[in-house]
Amino acid sequence: MYGGERLSNLGAFDQTVPDADALHKALAHWNHVRLAPSAPSETWREDLDQDLRMRQLEGAFVEAFRRHVAPMVEDVPSDPEGFIGWFEALKDHGPGQWDALFDWLEADASLDDLKWFLTQEAAGEAGFDDLVALTQVKIPDRAKLELARNYWDEMGRGSMRGMHGPMLSRTTAILGLAPTIDDTLWQSLCLANTMTAFATTRRYVWQSIGALGAVELTAPTRVSRVDAGLKRLGVSPEARKYFALHAQIDIEHSKAWNAEALVPLVSEDPARARFIAEGAVMRMICGEQCFDAYRQSLWGRRGPFAYAAE
Ligand SMILES: [Fe+2]
Ligand SMILES: [Fe+2]
Repeated sequence: MYGGERLSNLGAFDQTVPDADALHKALAHWNHVRLAPSAPSETWREDLDQDLRMRQLEGAFVEAFRRHVAPMVEDVPSDPEGFIGWFEALKDHGPGQWDALFDWLEADASLDDLKWFLTQEAAGEAGFDDLVALTQVKIPDRAKLELARNYWDEMGRGSMRGMHGPMLSRTTAILGLAPTIDDTLWQSLCLANTMTAFATTRRYVWQSIGALGAVELTAPTRVSRVDAGLKRLGVSPEARKYFALHAQIDIEHSKAWNAEALVPLVSEDPARARFIAEGAVMRMICGEQCFDAYRQSLWGRRGPFAYAAE
């Protein structure tokens, strides 16, 4: 479905960020600061100048990315039934689906390989709960209610132990991982930056809903393989809980998201179909380029077979 063209050319929008690596590190650091709870500051005017500059860089990136995926979404059906059929087919044929990386993580990777993979993934984790919360502002009621149900699951339905974010943090802590922005591949940061741009920018609200729906649609198959790989290597159920949980719960989340958010939004305004589709495809391309970069790092020049033979 996707030609595999890389996003590395979508980086240089400003002389201060000459390439994709510089752009996504800068956006990731800025996102970290701008979303953190803070306090009144003497530097608020200077901070606003910096925000404006970063929002322009972020917007230039997203608009270039949108032009890049335009041919993939131009024929998206805009009737609700046709649209959902197109959307659900992304699970089978979308960018990055069924990547060989996950077969290898399940069956062959070492614990150090899995730890490296999870460190990359954790550093690029934008926080699904916050993305949902930021996205739901002022959206139509039925979709808002679905995002609320999804958010409540993220909150462990009111139980601290059941919250998804802290559950992933426990995995990171038990495995002794220390994710940092500067040690993370730009492709992983790009994924988080794209999701954050969507969720924090009202003109990208439908892209955000599409991208979040693509996560629910495609996560179960990936996380179940990660869980199986960790289990094979003797990692405790407590450390694997995040993956085992999402292998199941996201199947239900995806069904509900499509029926209760996507269908009513597209029924109400068919023009939204294209924007939802863009967000889903962009999110999946971000994943695809991560898997590709991870394979190159993990397998290196030796290739998977040389690695497995060691
Ligand atoms: Fe979750
Ligand atoms: Fe979910």
